[in-house]
This record gives sequence, C-alpha cells and structure tokens, in this order.
Amino acid sequence: MNQMNVNIGGKADRSYEIYIGEEILDRVGMILARDGRAQRYVIVTDTHIDALHGARVQAALEKLDLRVDRITVPPGEEAKGIETVLTVTERLTALGADRQTVLIALGGGVVGDLTGFAASIYLRGIPVIQLPTTLLAQVDSSIGGKTGVDTAAGKNLLGTFNQPKGVFIDIAFLKTLPDEQIRSGLAEVIKYGIIESPELLDDLEGAVAKGNLRETAFLERIIAAACRIKKGIVELDERDRGLRRILNFGHTVGHAVEAASGYALSHGESVAIGMVAAARLSERLHGLPAGDAARISAIIRSVGLPDRIPAEMDLEDIFSRLSVDKKKEGGMIHFVMIRKLGTPFVNGGIPEGILRDALKGLKP
Ligand SMILES: NC(=O)c1ccc[n+]([C@@H]2O[C@H](COP(=O)([O-])OP(=O)(O)OC[C@H]3O[C@@H](n4cnc5c(N)ncnc54)[C@H](O)[C@@H]3O)[C@@H](O)[C@H]2O)c1
Ligand SMILES: [Zn+2]
Repeated sequence: MNQMNVNIGGKADRSYEIYIGEEILDRVGMILARDGRAQRYVIVTDTHIDALHGARVQAALEKLDLRVDRITVPPGEEAKGIETVLTVTERLTALGADRQTVLIALGGGVVGDLTGFAASIYLRGIPVIQLPTTLLAQVDSSIGGKTGVDTAAGKNLLGTFNQPKGVFIDIAFLKTLPDEQIRSGLAEVIKYGIIESPELLDDLEGAVAKGNLRETAFLERIIAAACRIKKGIVELDERDRGLRRILNFGHTVGHAVEAASGYALSHGESVAIGMVAAARLSERLHGLPAGDAARISAIIRSVGLPDRIPAEMDLEDIFSRLSVDKKKEGGMIHFVMIRKLGTPFVNGGIPEGILRDALKGLKP
C-alpha cells in the first residue's frame, strides 16, 4: 500500500494521510479503529454506488466494531445542489449525529464535493473522510479540500475549503466503473503529465500500447503519481491564489466547450479538447515544440478522448462563454500555457484573434 502525507500550512491538525492500494477496506477499518477519533461514522454515497458497494463498505467497518450508518443521495451532477446538502444534514439530525461523528464520502466527485460541504456546515463543522470510487475522484477531487455544490447560475458556486481527515483510495472500486468514467479520470492524469511529469505520459503511452489501461499495477502507479503532484501543489497554495491555477490546464477552453455542448460532452472530453487548444496556443505563442503538441493530441486520442471540437458545435458560442469567464477574472482570460512538457505558467491574456484561430483549427 502506498501512503503519503498532505501537509497543509505546516499544521499537524490540518495534515492528513492518503492511502492507495487494492482491496484495502479492511485496513481502512483498522486504521479508523486504531485512531479512535470518532464515536460513530456516517457513510454518504449515491444510490448507484450504494447498490454496488455500500453494504460491503459498511460491513468492513462494522467488523472492527465501528458504529456506522449510511445515507444515500441520487446519483449524478443534477443532485449536486444545496437541496441535497440539506437532505443530508436533515438525515444526520434524524440519526442523532453529533460533533463526535465523522462523515465518510463514498463516491465520485459529486458525492465527495457535497459531503465535504455538508461536513463543513453541519454543527459548524464535523470531520470528513474521502473514500473515492471514480478515477477522477481518486486522482483529483478527493484531494485538496475544495467542496461545493452547483446553483442555477453555474457549477460549484457555493462551497468551502475543508480538508478531509484522510483519503483512502481503493483501486478495487474501479472494477465496476464504466470505461467512459475511466476516460474522464485519464483526462486529468494526462493533464498532470503535461504540467508536471512527462514520465507519466510515457507510462500512459506504454499502457495504451499494451492495451493495459485497467491493469491494477498501472492504475496504482498513475494514481499515486497524480496524488503526489496534486498534493504538492495544494500544500503550496491551498486556497487557489496562484500556483494551484496550473491545475486548470485545459480547463479554460474545456469549461466553455462543456457548457456550450449543453453538457452533452463530459468534463473529461471537454478538458481533452481544451488541453489540445492550450497546447496549440503554447506552440504558437510560447515556443512549445510542435512535436510535443502533436504528442499531446495523440495521447488524448489513444485513450479514446476527443482532440477536436465536434463539427456540429458553434465556435461563436464557445467563444462567448470564454468571454464570460474573462469578466469573472477581471478582464483577462487566464490561460495556463506550457513552454515545454512539465513547465507550465499562467498567461495573463491571449489576443482574441489568436484564440479564435486556435478554436477554428480544432474543427474537423
Ligand atoms: N473538489 C475538487 O477539487 C474537484 C475536482 C474535480 C472535479 N470535481 C467535481 O467532481 C464532479 C465529477 O466527479 P465524477 O466524475 O467522479 O462524477 P460522479 O461523482 O457523478 O460519478 C460518475 C458516475 O459514476 C458512478 N460511480 C461512481 N463510482 C462508481 C464505481 N466504482 N462503479 C460504478 N459506478 C460508479 C456514479 O454513481 C455516477 O453515476 C463534478 O461535480 C466536479 O465539479 C471536484
Ligand atoms: Zn477537471
């Protein structure tokens, strides 16, 4: 089992461990029982994950004499709203959960974000542990303490920074995860490779060549590499004031494409397109070698993600959504660019004409 410490602000009480391994539920129970931090635990999960894994997770913890209850919420981004958080907190009250209770977020990014949020407001804050079940949650959303829910006006508009007390990554959960969701997580893994670790891209190319994208040893390696990169960035910039922005590589155009598609394109697919756009812009404006930009497109295609904007999509629609982003950021489109693989930086502004050209170039 892989283990790493996330050290926030040099403060022991805000630091936590990330554990990564396969079939580690028994160990999770033992670690929780040993730490003796809580009198009781409440698992929050979605109905879909609950049917696949809920009872098994609860039983593994109860075996260690831990007191455990389970709350379910509907699956999917549609459930990531304040009403669901209120339902969770009402259920917690009905269960008699008190400040000695710890929440366990068992699920993907949706469950992780909304449970983290519920934990940060219930009784002015109770601890939360992340037990991520999607590749995206295992490499990205379970680490770093961003919590939140969507409103009618947009995604993640309500939320808090609330670091978990621990993150337990069991790769065995991925066995039931559909390919489409694996690809979504791989988009973020490719992002980490581009901004920080070209070796991660070598590893991905090797696995694609062997047709091994679901192999345990490979998954464990890329998840550990991703967690190490993300935690290193979060340790330096917990509140997203500077460095953490490099994690948005591919996300500026990605978010615009995702919204313009009416969410028909997944986040991973949209970010894949956004990363190709960012690579092309980096090539044109900042001397990224053409071979590197081509390699990024090739890796994205090879895992089954798109590297082109779908023909039926309207470029002006995407463009106008980028301008909305611009207003939010005080007049500048903050673009994460790369000078070479592993060397990202935040570019304060890109001329509109060049941006338009780049998007046009991504039409098939
Ligand atoms: N907090 C952060 O730093 C951060 C970072 C990135 C993304 N996010 C958020 O994460 C969310 C997306 O997360 P996601 O992609 O994990 O989506 P998700 O949580 O909706 O999960 C995707 C689907 O997979 C199902 N599922 C989950 N685990 C499964 C398993 N092991 N087997 C079978 N099915 C399973 C879920 O029920 C759901 O239907 C977004 O809301 C996004 O805003 C947060
Ligand atoms: Zn993302």
